[in-house]
Amino acid sequence: MPKVLVATEKPFAPAAVEQIKNVFDKAGYELTLLEKYSDASELLAAVADVDAMIIRSDKATKEVLNAAKQLKVIVRAGAGYDNIDLAAASANGVVAMNTPGQNSNAVAELALGMMVFMARNQYNGKAGTELRGKKLGIHAYGHVGKLVGDIARGFGMEIFAFDPFIPKEAIEKDSVTVVNSAEALYETCQYISLHIPANDKTKKSINFELLSKMPKNAVLVNTARKEVIDEEDLLKLMAEREDFTYISDIAPDCKEEIAEKHEGRFFFTPKKMGAQTAEANINAGIAAATQIVNFLEKGDTTFQVNK
Ligand code: 3PG
Repeated sequence: MPKVLVATEKPFAPAAVEQIKNVFDKAGYELTLLEKYSDASELLAAVADVDAMIIRSDKATKEVLNAAKQLKVIVRAGAGYDNIDLAAASANGVVAMNTPGQNSNAVAELALGMMVFMARNQYNGKAGTELRGKKLGIHAYGHVGKLVGDIARGFGMEIFAFDPFIPKEAIEKDSVTVVNSAEALYETCQYISLHIPANDKTKKSINFELLSKMPKNAVLVNTARKEVIDEEDLLKLMAEREDFTYISDIAPDCKEEIAEKHEGRFFFTPKKMGAQTAEANINAGIAAATQIVNFLEKGDTTFQVNK
């Protein structure tokens, strides 16, 4: 009987756990839950004899993967897999997968929700501004970026996008204006919503040069990863431009300094909560469980990310 571990420092909603359990019960697999663990040593101990595992933003380091002697497949229930050491997974013959698109709507709704919250001065009673008629630049038009555009259109925003990996025509059919460079996007749009992954090419790529191009009353919305921001540059920009607001679902390392110096011009969720809805947890959890069963039973490697 294959053993599966669901290791979630930030647990799934109970309804999602129930449905994940159903998938494994039906397959005749044994499921172990490790939730809200506070030390990596708990994860190291829990992976020792499992054949498969599901994680969220939990760190699947080389140490964890080396300790998982029986592991055949690891699924990140979510989009970004920068928390998995892919080289270590491959070296150990472990297939790594993600579940693209499954939690996108939750992240997109949060991006717009935070934009409204800040446009209305965090609901403090003072007159704010509206989103209607404002230009929104979507930096990377994947699953989340597209949904952010769809929702923002309902608000009456004018949508622009930059994504060198998606054909122009595929984006334009959504009534989005495609620009040819990140610079053009930042120059054009008062609002920028970030949806790029964190990798060697993108880390610290959102820098002073790019952000300083943004028009007056610029708002940067980050529901992607904190690592893509050059924080030194962000601090410099916030000091130079009093009209610049930073909203993020992943608080930067320099959050204290921003809080100290720039009251009212930032908002950070206390814990990454873009994908933290029952619906997103259920979608991503069932997808992850099903992908594990399909891989172990039929060798299905759809969604493998360490090919
Ligand atoms: C993702 O990459 O899917 C999101 O960042 C969600 O991450 P989480 O599962 O840790 O909430």
